[in-house]
This record gives sequence, structure tokens and C-alpha cells, in this order.
Amino acid sequence: MSSNGLVIAVPKGRIAEELAPILRKVDIQPEKAFFDENSRQLQFRCDNSDISLIRVRSFDIATFVAFGAAQIGICGLDVLMEFNYADLYAPLNLDIGHCRLSLAEPEDFDIRQDLSLISHLRVATKYPNITQQYFAKAGIQAECIKLNGAMELAPKLGLANHIVDLVSSGRTLKANGLREVEVIANISSRLIVNRAAFKTRSHEINDLIERFREAVGAS
Ligand code: PRP
Repeated sequence: MSSNGLVIAVPKGRIAEELAPILRKVDIQPEKAFFDENSRQLQFRCDNSDISLIRVRSFDIATFVAFGAAQIGICGLDVLMEFNYADLYAPLNLDIGHCRLSLAEPEDFDIRQDLSLISHLRVATKYPNITQQYFAKAGIQAECIKLNGAMELAPKLGLANHIVDLVSSGRTLKANGLREVEVIANISSRLIVNRAAFKTRSHEINDLIERFREAVGAS
């Protein structure tokens, strides 16, 4: 692995599939192991350049890039909003990974009706910062129970009446007797860059940003 080639952090999971054709258009050709679902490898060299890819959880991408462990990353707007790192620059919307970050509640609830009566609320979420800010605007103090997955179980089991989570098809909410109350943010994936690296390696990084821009047809 080249010690000074650019490192790009790419997410595991759903986005990986949508990202593959973009990487091809950008002419990033990762080694074979990158496409092997059974591989435990986490860093992958590229066959045609000294760029390497690291594959990490989508929630960790912003952290890897903000601290300079990777210079570039592909990151959901949800993660960018939650961490709000000053050291990140997000020059490009990749127009993939579309979903929404929403407030949801059990079908027999109606928070909107009772909003004026509520001063304190318990919410299960992976996004405590976004959630607290969202409710603070309505003058409500949200007590967040931080979970890393399966948020939809929380209302059923009495952990919290409300959840803030990503919604795509809405099937998970429906299957768990929940309904979407309000969209907090529309989400898509962004190309993110470490600001310090952007200054010191502007030529390489700008070149890559332009290649991504062309690949997604953005102007
Ligand atoms: C996400 C999200 C919801 C689900 C929504 O979880 O946290 O649980 O997808 O999708 P839907 O509206 O199409 O049902 P994901 O499957 O990515 O796994 P996670 O719980 O590990 O985040």
C-alpha cells in the first residue's frame, strides 16, 4: 500500500451498490478483494493508481476524514449533520443513498396534537444531536436514548415513545406499527474532504473532485 497515496473512505452496506458504478466512471479500480463480500480486509489498493480505499461503517466515515485518517470520503448528509465537524468540506452531492431522516411514533399516537402540552420527550435515536436541536426549536427538551440500530423496537418495548431514524421505503416503520410524523431532513450521500488535506494536496484532490463531478453529471 502506498504510504502517500490518497485514502478514500467508502461506506459498507446499501450505498456500496450505488457507489460501484460511480467508482468505475471515476476510474478507481479497487483490487479484487474489495468486491468479495466474505473478505475481512478493510483497506484496498487500486490497480491503476496509488489511491487506496478503506471500507468503514457509514456512521464512522466523517470521523475518519475529519481526523485526516482518510483525505476523502463518501458520507450521508445525516452523518455530516450529526457530527458537524468543522474540519470537513462537502463539495459534491453524489445523488445516491436517497432517504430521509424522520421522526416517527406509534400509529395510535399524535404528537402534533399534543405538542403544546409537551415540554419533555424521550426519543430513541442514533442521532442525539440532530434530535435535540430539532426539538429545541419547538421548545421541547428531548431526552435521547442512543441506539445503534433496531430503533423501531423502542416504542413497542417502552424504551421511548418516539424515534428519529432513517426511512427509505417505510417498510420497517410499517412492520413495527409506526408512522412517519415529520421529515427532519432529506438525505443523500456527499463527497467529503478533509480541509487541511484540501489545502496541502489541492491539485490531487481537486482532480479527484472533478472526476467525481463528471461521473455524477453534476455542474
Ligand atoms: C435503516 C434504518 C431503518 C431502515 C429503513 O436501517 O435504520 O431501520 O433502514 O428502511 P426502510 O424504510 O426501507 O424500511 P439499515 O437496514 O440500514 O440497518 P441499520 O439498522 O444497521 O442501520
